Order: sequence, then structure tokens, then C-alpha cells
Amino acid sequence: MESTRKQLIELLNKKDGHISGQELSNQLNISRTAIWKHMNELKKDGYDIEAVQRKGYKILSSPDKMSENTLQWGLDTEWIGHQLFHYDQVESTQEIVHQMAKQGKPHGTVVIADEQVKGKGRMARKWDSPKGKGIWMSILLRPNLPPFKAPQLTLLAATVLAEMISERSALVPQIKWPNDLLIHHKKVSGILTEMQAEQDAIQYIVVGIGMNVNQNGEEIPEDIRHKASSLKNEAGEEWNIQETVQHILRLFERTYDQYESDGFEAIKANWEKHGYRIGEEVTISTMKRTWKATLVGIEPDGALCVRDRDGNHEKLYSAEIHW
Ligand code: BTN
Repeated sequence: MESTRKQLIELLNKKDGHISGQELSNQLNISRTAIWKHMNELKKDGYDIEAVQRKGYKILSSPDKMSENTLQWGLDTEWIGHQLFHYDQVESTQEIVHQMAKQGKPHGTVVIADEQVKGKGRMARKWDSPKGKGIWMSILLRPNLPPFKAPQLTLLAATVLAEMISERSALVPQIKWPNDLLIHHKKVSGILTEMQAEQDAIQYIVVGIGMNVNQNGEEIPEDIRHKASSLKNEAGEEWNIQETVQHILRLFERTYDQYESDGFEAIKANWEKHGYRIGEEVTISTMKRTWKATLVGIEPDGALCVRDRDGNHEKLYSAEIHW
């Protein structure tokens, strides 16, 4: 966000009472007319600002409605979300980020929408993204990694979402391989990672995060209600979507920075800590056979490692797991 605006909101929030236009103008080193213009912009963004003669200004309430300003305010990140674009309605945030990537937008660019009318899920499925009910967001990454390591970023994103839910609630999130977030065995979030790469270099990656946040039970499409849910539905209370988005972005940056400096080990351990049915025996089917095996963990290339009843280990890249 433009830094004067950010500082202005910070000053207004810091002060318990009112703060005069003169004091704001002194502290920010801008004219009182400029302060007045900023106040009008903030009001347009949904801030409720009280202006009292001879006392000054005070923020009575911040907007519930997401906007670029409200999302960026207080974000305090080094690189993620410095370029952040919010839309009321889009076809898919994923497609917008692909276009932005081609136009040269930087690592950490974020696109978020209140509603998607053509939300995309994995395997060409559609992703229901109703207005104001969830987080429909795509992040542009320009990692300096060989393409075979790209799945690690999807696994990383899943651990970020699990950590966020654990930190904000008493819910126990689990990650179902490869990257579905489950609460009480029902999917609340999914990740779609798309990569543009050359032979040995990633050009960019788009990490799409879809999270059902405030749908009530009956708002989940009927055909998937037995296996999908929302955070509100499971936690029993409404979630603040903006704060949840900010939490995800902060954690994403911290986890990504750690991954860059220390590698995949900590991500793997964290993924396995949250891994759904890790250590348990399940039935697995591929084109060739169906067998019983214990889920052991994940591999650095994103494969699922399983052990059959004879103790043989195998790496699976795609298989049907009978959860
Ligand atoms: C899945 O199938 O589990 C992945 C779902 C990913 C949905 C998100 S919502 C934001 C981004 N835009 C899209 O169109 N899809 C992803």
C-alpha cells in the first residue's frame, strides 16, 4: 500500500482519543488538505472515521469488506502481497495471475476475489467460490528451483494452511495427500498449483488457494456435503476473512523463507505431522492392481510413500486411495 496511507492508519489506530489534523500533518509531513483527501479515501474504503472540531480524527471501525487497502494494512511482509489486487468478482484468480506473470509482475504478487464464477479445481474440476464466503486467492511465485522441486511448494502451501487453522482455532486440520485440507474428515480447502517451466528452470508458479470459510452447512453444495465443509461449519463460529488472509500470507512468507534457507526437511516433517491417516493401513488402487498398504509419509518429489504387508516400500505419484 502507499506508505503515507499506511502510516496514517497506524497513527489513527495508535491513539486512544482523537488526533488533530495538524498533528497528523506534522507527523506525516504532508499538508492538511492532503490529510483530508486521505480521510475521504479511507471512508470510501469503508472506514468509519469520526471528525470532531478542535479535537481531530478517530477511527471508529475498520471495514469488514475486503479491499486492497484493508488487506495490505498491517500486513508487515517483506515480499508477499506488496503487489496485491482485490476484485469483487472474477472468473478465476488463477487466470489473472497467469496474465500478470506474463506481464512481468514480481514474486509474491497476490490476486484475491470475493467471488469466482469459473473457479478451477484440480483435475479440471470446478471449484465453487460463492461471494464473500471464502478465500479465493492466487499467489505468484518465481522460485529459483528446478522444475522437479515444484511439488514441494504445493506441500509447503498445505502446511501453511494447516498451521494457520491450528493457530487461529482449536480445530485439528489434517492434510490428505496430496494437498486437501480436512477438518473432521471433510475437505475445507484445496490447492491448485500451476507451473510454467522450461527444461531445467521454472519461469513461474501460481499457487491457488481455495478455502471454504463462512458457508453454513446448507450453503455447501448438496452433492458434496458429505465430504466438504467450511471453517465456520466446523468451528461453530464466523471467521474474519481478511485477518485469515493476512495470517496465511505472513505464514506463507515465513515458511517459504525458511524453505529457501533450510530446504525441504522441516516442511516434510510438518506435512507428516498433519498428514491424514499417516501410519495407517488403507486400500490403494492403480490401473494394474488393488492392495493394502500403510501410508508412510511423503517424498521430496511430492510422491506418497507406502509400505505393503511384506514390508516393500513404494512411491506413488497417482493412485486412488480408498480413504
Ligand atoms: C482443489 O481441487 O482442491 C484445488 C482448488 C483450488 C481453488 C482455488 S480458488 C483460487 C484459485 N482460483 C481458481 O480458479 N482455483 C484456485
